[in-house]
Amino acid sequence: MPTKTYQSRSPQDPEDVLVSAELVEPAAVPAVVSGARQAQAEWSGLAAPARANALNQAAQSVEQASAELIELGVREVGKPRTEMAGEVARGVSILRYYAQQVLDPDGATFPSSDGRSLLMARRKPHGVVGLITPWNFPVAIPLWKAAPALAFGNAVVLKPARQALATALRLGELISQHLPGGLLEILAADGAAADVLIGSADAVSFTGSVEVGRHVVAEATRHGAPVQAEMGGQNPSIVLSDADVSRAADAVATAMMSYAGQKCTATSRVIVVGDPSNFTDALVAAVEKLPLGDPAEATTVVGPVIDEGARAAVLDAADGARAAGGRVVTGGVATGQKGWFVRPTLVEGISPRADLAQNEVFGPIAVLLPARDVDEAVAIANDVSFGLAAAVFTTDLDRALAVSGRLEAGMVKVNAPTSGVDFYAPFGGVKGSSYGPREQGKAARDFYTWSQTITVSPGRA
Ligand code: UN1
Repeated sequence: MPTKTYQSRSPQDPEDVLVSAELVEPAAVPAVVSGARQAQAEWSGLAAPARANALNQAAQSVEQASAELIELGVREVGKPRTEMAGEVARGVSILRYYAQQVLDPDGATFPSSDGRSLLMARRKPHGVVGLITPWNFPVAIPLWKAAPALAFGNAVVLKPARQALATALRLGELISQHLPGGLLEILAADGAAADVLIGSADAVSFTGSVEVGRHVVAEATRHGAPVQAEMGGQNPSIVLSDADVSRAADAVATAMMSYAGQKCTATSRVIVVGDPSNFTDALVAAVEKLPLGDPAEATTVVGPVIDEGARAAVLDAADGARAAGGRVVTGGVATGQKGWFVRPTLVEGISPRADLAQNEVFGPIAVLLPARDVDEAVAIANDVSFGLAAAVFTTDLDRALAVSGRLEAGMVKVNAPTSGVDFYAPFGGVKGSSYGPREQGKAARDFYTWSQTITVSPGRA
Protein backbone atom coordinates (compact mmCIF):
# COMPACT_ATOMS: atom_id res chain seq x y z
CA MET A 1 0.00 0.00 0.00
CA PRO A 2 1.51 3.37 -0.95
CA THR A 3 2.44 5.40 2.10
CA LYS A 4 4.16 8.43 0.58
CA THR A 5 3.47 10.79 -2.29
CA TYR A 6 6.00 12.12 -4.71
CA GLN A 7 5.68 15.68 -5.97
CA SER A 8 7.36 17.67 -8.66
CA ARG A 9 7.20 21.47 -8.60
CA SER A 10 8.08 24.14 -11.10
CA PRO A 11 11.47 25.76 -10.44
CA GLN A 12 10.21 29.15 -11.69
CA ASP A 13 7.07 28.93 -9.54
CA PRO A 14 7.62 26.56 -6.61
CA GLU A 15 3.92 26.73 -5.65
CA ASP A 16 3.04 25.15 -8.99
CA VAL A 17 2.79 21.38 -8.34
CA LEU A 18 2.90 19.40 -11.59
CA VAL A 19 2.16 16.00 -10.17
CA SER A 20 1.61 14.44 -6.82
CA ALA A 21 2.01 10.72 -7.39
CA GLU A 22 1.80 7.80 -5.03
CA LEU A 23 5.22 6.39 -4.44
CA VAL A 24 5.69 2.78 -5.51
CA GLU A 25 6.88 0.82 -2.49
CA PRO A 26 10.01 -1.33 -2.87
CA ALA A 27 7.91 -4.42 -2.14
CA ALA A 28 5.75 -3.68 -5.20
CA VAL A 29 8.66 -3.54 -7.67
CA PRO A 30 9.10 -7.31 -8.24
CA ALA A 31 5.53 -7.58 -9.56
CA VAL A 32 6.22 -4.74 -12.03
CA VAL A 33 9.39 -6.47 -13.19
CA SER A 34 7.68 -9.82 -13.59
CA GLY A 35 4.86 -8.20 -15.58
CA ALA A 36 7.49 -6.63 -17.82
CA ARG A 37 9.19 -10.01 -18.17
CA GLN A 38 5.97 -11.61 -19.43
CA ALA A 39 5.37 -8.80 -21.91
CA GLN A 40 8.99 -9.11 -23.09
CA ALA A 41 8.49 -12.76 -24.06
CA GLU A 42 5.74 -11.72 -26.49
CA TRP A 43 7.57 -8.60 -27.71
CA SER A 44 10.88 -10.27 -28.47
CA GLY A 45 8.99 -12.94 -30.41
CA LEU A 46 7.59 -10.33 -32.79
CA ALA A 47 9.33 -9.88 -36.12
CA ALA A 48 11.70 -6.90 -36.18
CA PRO A 49 9.52 -4.99 -38.72
CA ALA A 50 6.59 -5.22 -36.28
CA ARG A 51 8.71 -3.76 -33.49
CA ALA A 52 9.90 -1.06 -35.90
CA ASN A 53 6.28 -0.20 -36.73
CA ALA A 54 5.36 0.16 -33.07
CA LEU A 55 8.29 2.51 -32.48
CA ASN A 56 7.42 4.56 -35.56
CA GLN A 57 3.88 4.91 -34.25
CA ALA A 58 5.29 5.95 -30.87
CA ALA A 59 7.43 8.56 -32.64
CA GLN A 60 4.32 9.91 -34.36
CA SER A 61 2.41 10.15 -31.07
CA VAL A 62 5.30 11.96 -29.39
CA GLU A 63 5.58 14.30 -32.39
CA GLN A 64 1.86 15.06 -32.32
CA ALA A 65 2.13 15.82 -28.60
CA SER A 66 5.23 18.03 -29.07
CA ALA A 67 3.56 21.26 -27.95
CA GLU A 68 2.26 19.59 -24.79
CA LEU A 69 5.63 17.99 -23.97
CA ILE A 70 7.44 21.29 -24.53
CA GLU A 71 5.03 23.06 -22.12
CA LEU A 72 5.44 20.29 -19.59
CA GLY A 73 9.23 20.32 -19.73
CA VAL A 74 9.42 24.13 -19.54
CA ARG A 75 7.13 24.12 -16.53
CA GLU A 76 8.51 21.08 -14.73
CA VAL A 77 12.29 21.43 -15.08
CA GLY A 78 12.58 25.09 -16.12
CA LYS A 79 14.27 24.34 -19.44
CA PRO A 80 14.05 27.36 -21.76
CA ARG A 81 11.41 26.86 -24.45
CA THR A 82 13.75 26.88 -27.46
CA GLU A 83 16.00 24.24 -25.90
CA MET A 84 13.03 22.16 -24.79
CA ALA A 85 11.59 22.27 -28.31
CA GLY A 86 14.94 21.03 -29.64
CA GLU A 87 14.94 18.25 -27.08
CA VAL A 88 11.45 17.01 -27.98
CA ALA A 89 12.37 17.03 -31.68
CA ARG A 90 15.52 15.10 -30.80
CA GLY A 91 13.35 12.57 -28.91
CA VAL A 92 11.18 11.98 -31.98
CA SER A 93 14.29 11.49 -34.13
CA ILE A 94 15.72 9.03 -31.61
CA LEU A 95 12.57 6.88 -31.79
CA ARG A 96 12.64 6.91 -35.61
CA TYR A 97 16.36 6.19 -35.71
CA TYR A 98 16.07 3.04 -33.58
CA ALA A 99 12.91 1.97 -35.43
CA GLN A 100 15.09 1.87 -38.56
CA GLN A 101 18.18 0.45 -36.90
CA VAL A 102 16.32 -2.67 -35.83
CA LEU A 103 16.08 -3.55 -39.54
CA ASP A 104 19.88 -3.51 -39.92
CA PRO A 105 21.78 -6.83 -40.00
CA ASP A 106 21.20 -8.45 -36.59
CA GLY A 107 24.54 -10.19 -36.42
CA ALA A 108 27.38 -11.46 -38.56
CA THR A 109 28.38 -14.60 -40.37
CA PHE A 110 31.91 -16.02 -40.45
CA PRO A 111 33.73 -18.53 -42.61
CA SER A 112 33.46 -21.92 -40.91
CA SER A 113 36.55 -23.94 -40.09
CA ASP A 114 35.34 -26.96 -42.09
CA GLY A 115 34.11 -24.97 -45.08
CA ARG A 116 30.65 -26.59 -44.85
CA SER A 117 29.13 -25.36 -41.62
CA LEU A 118 27.31 -22.11 -41.05
CA LEU A 119 28.97 -19.99 -38.36
CA MET A 120 27.15 -16.92 -37.17
CA ALA A 121 26.82 -14.57 -34.24
CA ARG A 122 23.41 -13.06 -33.52
CA ARG A 123 22.28 -10.34 -31.13
CA LYS A 124 19.59 -11.14 -28.56
CA PRO A 125 17.80 -8.95 -26.00
CA HIS A 126 18.64 -9.21 -22.30
CA GLY A 127 15.06 -9.29 -21.02
CA VAL A 128 13.99 -6.55 -18.61
CA VAL A 129 16.15 -3.43 -18.63
CA GLY A 130 16.11 -1.07 -15.63
CA LEU A 131 16.63 2.60 -16.53
CA ILE A 132 17.34 5.36 -14.03
CA THR A 133 17.18 8.82 -15.56
CA PRO A 134 17.86 12.40 -14.41
CA TRP A 135 15.61 15.47 -14.62
CA ASN A 136 17.75 17.69 -16.84
CA PHE A 137 16.89 16.03 -20.19
CA PRO A 138 13.41 14.79 -19.24
CA VAL A 139 12.56 13.58 -22.77
CA ALA A 140 15.86 12.89 -24.55
CA ILE A 141 17.60 10.78 -21.91
CA PRO A 142 14.65 8.44 -21.18
CA LEU A 143 14.27 8.02 -24.95
CA TRP A 144 17.91 7.49 -25.86
CA LYS A 145 17.91 4.61 -23.37
CA ALA A 146 14.36 3.23 -23.79
CA ALA A 147 14.18 3.42 -27.62
CA PRO A 148 17.14 1.12 -28.32
CA ALA A 149 16.23 -1.14 -25.38
CA LEU A 150 12.72 -1.64 -26.79
CA ALA A 151 13.79 -1.77 -30.43
CA PHE A 152 16.12 -4.68 -29.79
CA GLY A 153 13.41 -6.65 -27.97
CA ASN A 154 13.71 -5.79 -24.28
CA ALA A 155 11.10 -4.66 -21.78
CA VAL A 156 11.81 -1.41 -19.91
CA VAL A 157 11.14 -0.37 -16.32
CA LEU A 158 12.13 3.28 -16.03
CA LYS A 159 12.60 5.18 -12.80
CA PRO A 160 12.77 8.89 -13.66
CA ALA A 161 14.02 11.59 -11.32
CA ARG A 162 11.22 12.89 -9.09
CA GLN A 163 11.75 16.45 -10.43
CA ALA A 164 10.84 15.26 -13.96
CA LEU A 165 8.11 12.79 -13.04
CA ALA A 166 5.18 14.45 -14.81
CA THR A 167 7.07 14.61 -18.11
CA ALA A 168 8.19 10.98 -17.79
CA LEU A 169 4.67 9.75 -17.00
CA ARG A 170 3.22 11.56 -20.05
CA LEU A 171 6.01 10.30 -22.29
CA GLY A 172 5.35 6.78 -20.99
CA GLU A 173 1.63 7.05 -21.86
CA LEU A 174 2.33 8.31 -25.36
CA ILE A 175 4.66 5.41 -26.11
CA SER A 176 3.03 2.53 -24.20
CA GLN A 177 -0.22 2.80 -26.14
CA HIS A 178 1.66 1.25 -29.08
CA LEU A 179 3.27 -1.55 -27.04
CA PRO A 180 2.06 -4.70 -25.29
CA GLY A 181 0.76 -3.92 -21.77
CA GLY A 182 3.50 -3.93 -19.14
CA LEU A 183 6.37 -3.70 -21.65
CA LEU A 184 7.23 -0.11 -20.70
CA GLU A 185 6.59 0.87 -17.10
CA ILE A 186 7.37 4.25 -15.53
CA LEU A 187 7.99 3.92 -11.80
CA ALA A 188 7.25 6.82 -9.46
CA ALA A 189 9.76 5.59 -6.94
CA ASP A 190 12.61 6.58 -4.66
CA GLY A 191 16.07 5.12 -4.19
CA ALA A 192 14.93 2.10 -2.14
CA ALA A 193 12.57 0.96 -4.89
CA ALA A 194 15.25 1.70 -7.49
CA ASP A 195 17.58 -0.67 -5.62
CA VAL A 196 15.01 -3.45 -5.96
CA LEU A 197 14.74 -2.68 -9.68
CA ILE A 198 18.52 -2.77 -10.11
CA GLY A 199 18.64 -6.05 -8.19
CA SER A 200 16.13 -7.74 -10.49
CA ALA A 201 16.77 -6.17 -13.92
CA ASP A 202 18.76 -8.06 -16.58
CA ALA A 203 20.67 -4.89 -17.56
CA VAL A 204 20.83 -1.42 -16.03
CA SER A 205 21.51 2.00 -17.54
CA PHE A 206 21.92 5.09 -15.38
CA THR A 207 22.54 8.82 -15.85
CA GLY A 208 23.06 11.07 -12.84
CA SER A 209 25.56 11.91 -10.11
CA VAL A 210 28.84 10.12 -9.41
CA GLU A 211 27.73 9.17 -5.94
CA VAL A 212 24.51 7.47 -7.06
CA GLY A 213 26.14 6.09 -10.21
CA ARG A 214 28.81 4.24 -8.25
CA HIS A 215 26.10 2.73 -6.05
CA VAL A 216 24.07 1.66 -9.11
CA VAL A 217 27.13 0.02 -10.66
CA ALA A 218 27.92 -1.85 -7.42
CA GLU A 219 24.32 -3.08 -7.00
CA ALA A 220 24.03 -4.22 -10.63
CA THR A 221 27.38 -6.00 -10.74
CA ARG A 222 26.57 -7.73 -7.44
CA HIS A 223 24.20 -9.97 -9.41
CA GLY A 224 26.20 -9.87 -12.63
CA ALA A 225 23.93 -7.56 -14.65
CA PRO A 226 25.51 -5.53 -17.45
CA VAL A 227 25.52 -1.88 -16.38
CA GLN A 228 26.41 1.49 -17.83
CA ALA A 229 26.52 4.75 -15.88
CA GLU A 230 26.99 8.28 -17.14
CA MET A 231 27.93 10.51 -14.25
CA GLY A 232 28.80 14.05 -15.06
CA GLY A 233 31.87 16.11 -15.75
CA GLN A 234 34.08 19.06 -14.96
CA ASN A 235 34.48 20.03 -18.57
CA PRO A 236 37.22 22.35 -19.82
CA SER A 237 37.12 24.79 -22.71
CA ILE A 238 40.65 25.71 -23.75
CA VAL A 239 41.06 29.04 -25.54
CA LEU A 240 44.32 29.30 -27.49
CA SER A 241 45.92 32.66 -28.26
CA ASP A 242 44.99 32.49 -31.96
CA ALA A 243 41.26 31.92 -31.30
CA ASP A 244 38.64 34.28 -32.68
CA VAL A 245 37.90 36.01 -29.36
CA SER A 246 34.29 37.02 -29.89
CA ARG A 247 33.19 33.71 -31.46
CA ALA A 248 34.94 31.75 -28.72
CA ALA A 249 33.43 33.95 -26.00
CA ASP A 250 29.89 33.41 -27.33
CA ALA A 251 30.34 29.64 -27.63
CA VAL A 252 31.89 29.29 -24.16
CA ALA A 253 29.21 31.50 -22.57
CA THR A 254 26.52 29.24 -24.06
CA ALA A 255 28.33 26.08 -23.01
CA MET A 256 28.65 27.34 -19.43
CA MET A 257 25.29 28.99 -18.84
CA SER A 258 22.55 27.79 -21.21
CA TYR A 259 19.89 25.97 -19.19
CA ALA A 260 21.67 27.47 -16.16
CA GLY A 261 24.63 25.12 -16.66
CA GLN A 262 22.58 22.07 -15.72
CA LYS A 263 24.11 19.65 -18.21
CA CYS A 264 26.79 17.09 -17.56
CA THR A 265 28.39 18.44 -20.76
CA ALA A 266 28.39 22.10 -19.60
CA THR A 267 31.73 23.94 -19.49
CA SER A 268 32.80 24.64 -15.91
CA ARG A 269 36.48 25.52 -16.48
CA VAL A 270 37.72 28.03 -19.03
CA ILE A 271 41.45 27.68 -19.57
CA VAL A 272 42.95 30.67 -21.36
CA VAL A 273 46.45 30.39 -22.84
CA GLY A 274 48.57 33.56 -22.60
CA ASP A 275 47.34 36.93 -21.34
CA PRO A 276 43.70 36.25 -20.34
CA SER A 277 42.51 39.86 -20.05
CA ASN A 278 41.04 40.37 -23.55
CA PHE A 279 39.24 37.07 -23.54
CA THR A 280 38.00 37.55 -19.96
CA ASP A 281 36.40 40.88 -20.88
CA ALA A 282 34.75 39.35 -23.94
CA LEU A 283 33.52 36.36 -21.93
CA VAL A 284 32.05 38.48 -19.13
CA ALA A 285 30.25 40.60 -21.74
CA ALA A 286 28.96 37.47 -23.51
CA VAL A 287 27.68 35.98 -20.23
CA GLU A 288 26.01 39.21 -19.14
CA LYS A 289 24.09 39.54 -22.39
CA LEU A 290 22.57 36.04 -22.22
CA PRO A 291 18.80 36.55 -21.78
CA LEU A 292 17.86 35.42 -18.26
CA GLY A 293 14.31 34.97 -17.10
CA ASP A 294 11.09 33.05 -17.60
CA PRO A 295 11.89 29.80 -19.44
CA ALA A 296 8.50 30.01 -21.15
CA GLU A 297 9.83 32.93 -23.27
CA ALA A 298 11.30 31.85 -26.60
CA THR A 299 14.31 34.17 -26.21
CA THR A 300 15.36 32.97 -22.73
CA VAL A 301 18.69 31.16 -22.53
CA VAL A 302 19.20 31.06 -18.75
CA GLY A 303 16.26 29.96 -16.62
CA PRO A 304 16.17 29.02 -12.94
CA VAL A 305 18.05 26.13 -11.34
CA ILE A 306 16.02 23.11 -10.38
CA ASP A 307 15.39 23.78 -6.68
CA GLU A 308 16.36 25.73 -3.61
CA GLY A 309 19.23 23.36 -2.78
CA ALA A 310 20.68 23.81 -6.27
CA ARG A 311 20.59 27.59 -5.90
CA ALA A 312 22.24 27.36 -2.48
CA ALA A 313 24.96 25.14 -3.99
CA VAL A 314 25.82 27.82 -6.59
CA LEU A 315 25.87 30.62 -4.00
CA ASP A 316 27.94 28.48 -1.58
CA ALA A 317 30.40 27.66 -4.35
CA ALA A 318 30.84 31.38 -5.10
CA ASP A 319 31.39 32.07 -1.38
CA GLY A 320 33.86 29.20 -1.16
CA ALA A 321 35.80 30.62 -4.11
CA ARG A 322 35.89 34.07 -2.48
CA ALA A 323 37.15 32.48 0.74
CA ALA A 324 39.86 30.70 -1.26
CA GLY A 325 41.08 34.11 -2.49
CA GLY A 326 39.13 34.17 -5.76
CA ARG A 327 37.22 37.06 -7.34
CA VAL A 328 33.68 36.81 -8.64
CA VAL A 329 33.89 38.69 -11.95
CA THR A 330 30.17 38.47 -12.65
CA GLY A 331 27.15 37.02 -10.84
CA GLY A 332 27.47 35.31 -7.47
CA VAL A 333 24.03 36.46 -6.29
CA ALA A 334 20.39 35.38 -6.57
CA THR A 335 18.33 37.57 -8.90
CA GLY A 336 15.62 38.30 -6.33
CA GLN A 337 12.72 37.26 -8.57
CA LYS A 338 10.29 34.45 -7.72
CA GLY A 339 11.74 31.00 -8.44
CA TRP A 340 15.22 29.54 -8.10
CA PHE A 341 17.07 32.06 -10.24
CA VAL A 342 20.75 32.82 -9.74
CA ARG A 343 22.95 35.07 -11.86
CA PRO A 344 25.42 33.32 -14.14
CA THR A 345 28.63 33.36 -12.16
CA LEU A 346 32.26 33.51 -13.27
CA VAL A 347 35.15 33.25 -10.85
CA GLU A 348 38.86 33.96 -11.38
CA GLY A 349 41.97 33.89 -9.23
CA ILE A 350 41.64 30.41 -7.73
CA SER A 351 43.96 27.44 -8.11
CA PRO A 352 43.11 24.69 -10.61
CA ARG A 353 43.15 22.41 -7.56
CA ALA A 354 40.55 24.48 -5.65
CA ASP A 355 37.18 22.90 -4.90
CA LEU A 356 35.28 24.86 -7.52
CA ALA A 357 37.79 23.86 -10.22
CA GLN A 358 37.72 20.20 -9.23
CA ASN A 359 34.12 19.39 -8.31
CA GLU A 360 30.91 19.61 -10.33
CA VAL A 361 28.38 22.14 -8.98
CA PHE A 362 25.78 21.51 -11.73
CA GLY A 363 24.68 25.11 -12.03
CA PRO A 364 25.54 28.40 -13.78
CA ILE A 365 29.02 28.80 -12.35
CA ALA A 366 32.43 28.40 -13.92
CA VAL A 367 36.03 29.29 -13.25
CA LEU A 368 38.61 31.06 -15.42
CA LEU A 369 42.10 29.56 -15.25
CA PRO A 370 45.10 31.12 -17.03
CA ALA A 371 47.78 28.88 -18.55
CA ARG A 372 51.29 29.92 -19.64
CA ASP A 373 51.29 27.71 -22.72
CA VAL A 374 49.48 24.87 -24.45
CA ASP A 375 51.24 22.21 -22.37
CA GLU A 376 50.11 23.78 -19.14
CA ALA A 377 46.56 24.18 -20.50
CA VAL A 378 46.38 20.48 -21.35
CA ALA A 379 47.81 19.52 -17.95
CA ILE A 380 45.19 21.66 -16.15
CA ALA A 381 42.41 20.31 -18.37
CA ASN A 382 43.32 16.71 -17.54
CA ASP A 383 43.99 17.24 -13.83
CA VAL A 384 40.47 16.37 -12.61
CA SER A 385 38.74 13.09 -11.82
CA PHE A 386 36.25 13.52 -14.71
CA GLY A 387 36.59 13.19 -18.48
CA LEU A 388 33.32 13.74 -20.31
CA ALA A 389 33.53 16.66 -22.77
CA ALA A 390 36.18 19.22 -23.68
CA ALA A 391 36.51 22.02 -26.21
CA VAL A 392 39.43 23.74 -27.92
CA PHE A 393 39.15 27.18 -29.53
CA THR A 394 41.73 27.93 -32.21
CA THR A 395 41.93 28.87 -35.89
CA ASP A 396 44.95 26.61 -36.42
CA LEU A 397 43.96 23.10 -37.54
CA ASP A 398 47.30 21.56 -36.57
CA ARG A 399 47.00 22.85 -33.04
CA ALA A 400 43.34 21.78 -32.89
CA LEU A 401 44.28 18.22 -33.76
CA ALA A 402 47.32 18.11 -31.51
CA VAL A 403 45.47 19.43 -28.45
CA SER A 404 42.31 17.33 -29.04
CA GLY A 405 44.35 14.16 -29.09
CA ARG A 406 45.92 14.93 -25.72
CA LEU A 407 42.66 15.59 -23.85
CA GLU A 408 41.28 12.94 -21.51
CA ALA A 409 37.65 13.36 -22.56
CA GLY A 410 35.11 11.11 -24.26
CA MET A 411 34.05 13.98 -26.53
CA VAL A 412 36.11 16.85 -27.91
CA LYS A 413 34.68 19.84 -29.78
CA VAL A 414 36.80 22.26 -31.76
CA ASN A 415 35.39 25.81 -31.88
CA ALA A 416 32.04 24.62 -30.52
CA PRO A 417 30.37 24.39 -27.10
CA THR A 418 31.14 21.32 -24.96
CA SER A 419 27.38 20.81 -24.53
CA GLY A 420 25.15 19.37 -27.24
CA VAL A 421 25.40 15.83 -28.55
CA ASP A 422 24.34 14.05 -31.74
CA PHE A 423 22.07 11.12 -30.94
CA TYR A 424 23.54 8.97 -33.73
CA ALA A 425 27.17 9.22 -32.52
CA PRO A 426 28.63 7.39 -29.52
CA PHE A 427 28.29 9.28 -26.24
CA GLY A 428 30.21 8.84 -23.00
CA GLY A 429 33.30 9.78 -21.05
CA VAL A 430 36.39 8.44 -19.36
CA LYS A 431 37.65 8.41 -15.76
CA GLY A 432 34.94 9.25 -13.20
CA SER A 433 32.49 10.45 -15.86
CA SER A 434 31.33 7.11 -17.20
CA TYR A 435 31.28 3.40 -16.53
CA GLY A 436 30.62 0.70 -19.10
CA PRO A 437 29.99 0.86 -22.84
CA ARG A 438 29.01 3.99 -24.76
CA GLU A 439 25.41 5.11 -25.22
CA GLN A 440 23.52 6.28 -28.31
CA GLY A 441 24.10 5.65 -32.01
CA LYS A 442 25.06 2.13 -32.99
CA ALA A 443 26.86 1.67 -29.68
CA ALA A 444 23.46 1.26 -27.99
CA ARG A 445 22.86 -2.09 -29.66
CA ASP A 446 25.94 -3.58 -28.04
CA PHE A 447 24.69 -2.62 -24.60
CA TYR A 448 21.04 -3.63 -24.97
CA THR A 449 21.77 -7.03 -26.53
CA TRP A 450 24.12 -9.95 -26.02
CA SER A 451 25.81 -11.95 -28.72
CA GLN A 452 25.21 -15.65 -29.32
CA THR A 453 27.62 -17.56 -31.59
CA ILE A 454 25.93 -20.43 -33.41
CA THR A 455 27.59 -23.17 -35.48
CA VAL A 456 25.32 -25.23 -37.73
CA SER A 457 27.01 -28.28 -39.26
CA PRO A 458 25.45 -30.58 -41.87
CA GLY A 459 23.33 -33.38 -40.32
CA ARG A 460 24.40 -35.87 -43.00
CA ALA A 461 27.86 -36.73 -44.23
C1 UN1 B 1 23.70 17.44 -24.34
O1 UN1 B 1 24.67 18.13 -24.00
O2 UN1 B 1 22.96 17.73 -25.29
O3 UN1 B 1 22.86 14.76 -18.38
C2 UN1 B 1 23.37 16.16 -23.67
C3 UN1 B 1 23.50 15.35 -19.25
C4 UN1 B 1 24.09 14.53 -20.36
C5 UN1 B 1 23.47 14.82 -21.66
C6 UN1 B 1 24.00 16.02 -22.33
N1 UN1 B 1 23.89 13.14 -20.06
O4 UN1 B 1 23.64 16.54 -19.21
